Amino acid sequence: MRFFLTTAIDYVNSRPHLGTAYEKITADVIARYKRLAGFDVHFLMGNDEHSQNVYKRAIERGMDPRAYCDLMEQEFRSVWTQLDISFDDFIRTTEPRHRAAVQKMVQANHDAGDIYEGFYEGWYCVSCEAFKQEKDLVDGKCPIHTNLIPEWIKEKNYFFRLSKYCRPLLDHFHANPGFLQPDIRRNEMLRLLEGGLEDISVSRAGQSWGIPLPFAPENVVYVWYDALINYAAAVGYGTDEERFRTWWPANLHVVGKDITRFHTVVWPAMLMSAGLPLPAQVFGHGWVHFQGQKMSKSLGTSLDPVDVAGRFGPDPLRLYLVKEISYGSDGDFTWDRYTERYNVDLANNFGNLVSRLSAMAEKYRNNRLAPAGSGGRLAAVAAHALGRYGAAMDGFALHEGAAAAFQLVDATNEYIAQTTPWALAKDPAHSSALDEVLFNVAEAIRIAAVLLMPIMPRSCGEILRRIGEPTAATDVRLDPGAHWRNEGVRDISKGSALWPRAEEMVADNTTDTHQGTPQAPGATQAAGSGLTAAETPAPQVDNRISIDDFMKVELRVAKVMEAESVPKSKKLVKMKIDVGTEQRTIVAGIAEAYTPEQLVGRTIAIVFNLKPAKLMGIESNGMVLAASPEGGKPTLVSFDGELPPGTRVR
Ligand code: MSP
Repeated sequence: MRFFLTTAIDYVNSRPHLGTAYEKITADVIARYKRLAGFDVHFLMGNDEHSQNVYKRAIERGMDPRAYCDLMEQEFRSVWTQLDISFDDFIRTTEPRHRAAVQKMVQANHDAGDIYEGFYEGWYCVSCEAFKQEKDLVDGKCPIHTNLIPEWIKEKNYFFRLSKYCRPLLDHFHANPGFLQPDIRRNEMLRLLEGGLEDISVSRAGQSWGIPLPFAPENVVYVWYDALINYAAAVGYGTDEERFRTWWPANLHVVGKDITRFHTVVWPAMLMSAGLPLPAQVFGHGWVHFQGQKMSKSLGTSLDPVDVAGRFGPDPLRLYLVKEISYGSDGDFTWDRYTERYNVDLANNFGNLVSRLSAMAEKYRNNRLAPAGSGGRLAAVAAHALGRYGAAMDGFALHEGAAAAFQLVDATNEYIAQTTPWALAKDPAHSSALDEVLFNVAEAIRIAAVLLMPIMPRSCGEILRRIGEPTAATDVRLDPGAHWRNEGVRDISKGSALWPRAEEMVADNTTDTHQGTPQAPGATQAAGSGLTAAETPAPQVDNRISIDDFMKVELRVAKVMEAESVPKSKKLVKMKIDVGTEQRTIVAGIAEAYTPEQLVGRTIAIVFNLKPAKLMGIESNGMVLAASPEGGKPTLVSFDGELPPGTRVR
């Protein structure tokens, strides 16, 4: 049984944020679940490189676009690896295999009479990489990129006869109610199709960054038309027909709700035109917001998933995103809510359960648990949880699947409270009852860990090891792995707390830096925005802020590209700095300590998400960090080694 699933391929003009990571994490949970269910899974991800924004970003950074994309591939792979995303293949649209597939598909559509020459005049949003109709604009701006006015373009283009496929697409939607899920997305697309389709432009003139049209090479293929083909390219379309026949059609495309039209209208029409089968299903997930706001680099509301995973590890983040957001709907991330769920679900509940079992196994049974009894009511709860979990996961209700596994964890904690093993241990007459309770608890934990493995692969692998499961975590399957087993002696091993309570972690972190430190002669302070900030007193106990407050301030590494003194000011320097995602102007009150020449090329620390301020008529975007001893000159905060601009400082 094969299962081929894909995610959207990402634009590489900036690093992944928590929203793009949400998609990869949830798709990874599906991939791991399918493997657990015994499927031969092929999980594809990749990067979308032929975008104008990617090209612009490379030029801004003074790099060759291809070299820039090579660098970003490393960044993306590194982020995905740190989040334990188990992709089997990673495609880039600049690869030869992709180019071959694009040229083959475009030619096939052309041969079918579905591509013709025309003239396009209209709006184009570079951030969506999409043509927009006047009626779609809100106050003249793109409804998705509300800070952007689309470009008006006029050019000779090649068009694809999308209109021809409107009826066949409607028929396909009706014959396959599961083709697009969830239903809210399906209904949106049905409304769109019922309104009729217009042909779409599939080429761009006057651009060099892209794949040439085989029959008119002075044009490049429109980036979306190019990108969609990655799914077929990765499994051999245009390069390895046998492999293509093995894996195509895809079982599932996991994409964001904003791009379901491309995946369930444009892409299927291209495939129909080329005489190829359609993907079985598309799932349009919702968006993750940060503190109720859309995640956006430029608005400073973007979260780096590696930073978030750095707090408690990748597993708690994966669990939060899966369990707390109903899959298909929008969700929100806040540090407070995240910390609260971490404490409730992991520190107090599942983690505590594992610690309790290992402590009791050591104290009462010298770490060896022998099978006893039949599992009783706990076995029945486990069977029920497994049924609920399987149905939920098969229907991509991932949040329900997580809840089903936690139903078993809760029931096991209650079972301990009701059976009071500590009381049984006091009386040798209850010895076999104690054996039964401890074995049942171990077995319930084992099954919960199997069910949660797709969501928290690292910790569940560790729990299975501690619980004495002999099968390697990667070889465990739902059948028989998630079924109750009244056999086999379990050697329980102890370990450190899997998920220490968050307050304790925060308290540990603050001991050195706050309470324990004598008042510094000059606290680190802001020299940016030209502000002659007053000495900041060392925090008093009642002055202390929570880690959430601290996390609101995005400190980042930046590199000074240009620097010049500000006329008529003794203190201010104006700098152009590279902050990883863009170049900015920043004004800092450090002229008495540094000449412009000394600043160029330096790596500095800045407050990245500060509202702009005007200083001597110059808009400063951010604040440079420096320490000023009393009566002395500011000294810039610097780093031990070379760090790429944009790196978060915490
Ligand atoms: N390159 C196109 C996709 C081409 S697929 C043939 C693209 N790239 S993207 O980088 O803008 O987005 C990648 C995916 O991340 C999309 O599915 C998009 O919906 C998703 N998300 C972007 N921001 C998101 C959130 N804030 N939350 C959840 N998903 C989000 O579109």
